[in-house]
Amino acid sequence: MPVELTTQIRPAGATATSEAARTLRDGGLVAFPTETVYGLGADAANAEAVARLYRAKGRPAFNPLIVHVGDLKAAQRIGCFDATAVALAAAFWPGPLTLVLPKASRCPVARLATASLDTIAIRIPAHPVARDILREFGGAVVAPSANLSGHVSPTTAAHVQSDLSGRIDLIVDGGPVEVGVESAIVGCFASPTLLRPGGIPRDEIERVLGSPLAQLDSGAIEGRPPASGMLASHYAPRARVRLDATSLSRGEALLAFGPAALAGSETATAVRNLSERGDLTEAAANLFGYLRALDASGARTIAVMPVPDHGLGEAINDRLRRAAAPQG
Ligand code: TXA
Ligand code: MG
Repeated sequence: MPVELTTQIRPAGATATSEAARTLRDGGLVAFPTETVYGLGADAANAEAVARLYRAKGRPAFNPLIVHVGDLKAAQRIGCFDATAVALAAAFWPGPLTLVLPKASRCPVARLATASLDTIAIRIPAHPVARDILREFGGAVVAPSANLSGHVSPTTAAHVQSDLSGRIDLIVDGGPVEVGVESAIVGCFASPTLLRPGGIPRDEIERVLGSPLAQLDSGAIEGRPPASGMLASHYAPRARVRLDATSLSRGEALLAFGPAALAGSETATAVRNLSERGDLTEAAANLFGYLRALDASGARTIAVMPVPDHGLGEAINDRLRRAAAPQG
């Protein structure tokens, strides 16, 4: 357990932005909303701050961080953009896409943040609060999701508080996020590769590339997972998660999707429907909050109805599979 800190919570606005920038400059840890999930920010160039961030999350040091910047010029100082990267950045930034690129030769980012890889993950977030903080701070900010390592990602300030209170300096509360699943991560390798499905559906990325994304050959990068989304257990609630439920057993909580009722659902100890009307965008926005709520209901098992795998469904199913994987 890191040293106990007093975690301040401030509503988003000019005062909170200045306090966030000052805290980052002082080497502190600041949680703030992005359009995908809340991030936990630290000054990317400050090795001590980055070490503190790994400790606060309980994150293994082999798992590298995403560097957040305010504009393309700042991104080009830390990563080497080829034609593919330029095209993807032009199409989707600011927005829920992360590019993994060769590190620039004079990249100012602390080595710990990239787990000593020679590549670096970069994104320009679209959320106005994140953008204000990046502008006022002026430098690059590493920001993993603002949860304890392996736990469900936070989509509200209250989620951040329940995981990280006492471990970080400041939480900027900008209300619930819009997208609800993390950024899609594309490795700009010889064949552009989808490392983590996320907030931009695969087919939209492929339309810009004009070709299919390569599939990740797991273990390809020095035998370790290049994205924590690849760790078998991640995004995990305390309850057991049972996927593709076609009926409900007594004592289970239900994570539903769509208008159809599930056999046995009247016995559910708690119910949330990701989207009554079967809308995947709405389902993504609700996913992590509903997993937390059903977990907090005390259910031993959360049964999850099938979610279609197209569009944002690929990211939703990816997170659900990892939430259901055996922990340990
Ligand atoms: O939407 C998001 O991406 C959020 C918000 C806060 O921006 N951030 C986020 O960070 O999801 P995190 O740390 O939870 O996930 C970052 C992922 C990890 O799976 C990590 O392994 C991968 O990015 N990653 C970072 N650097 C990498 C690299 N050089 N090569 C491959 N994967 C990398
Ligand atoms: Mg995360």
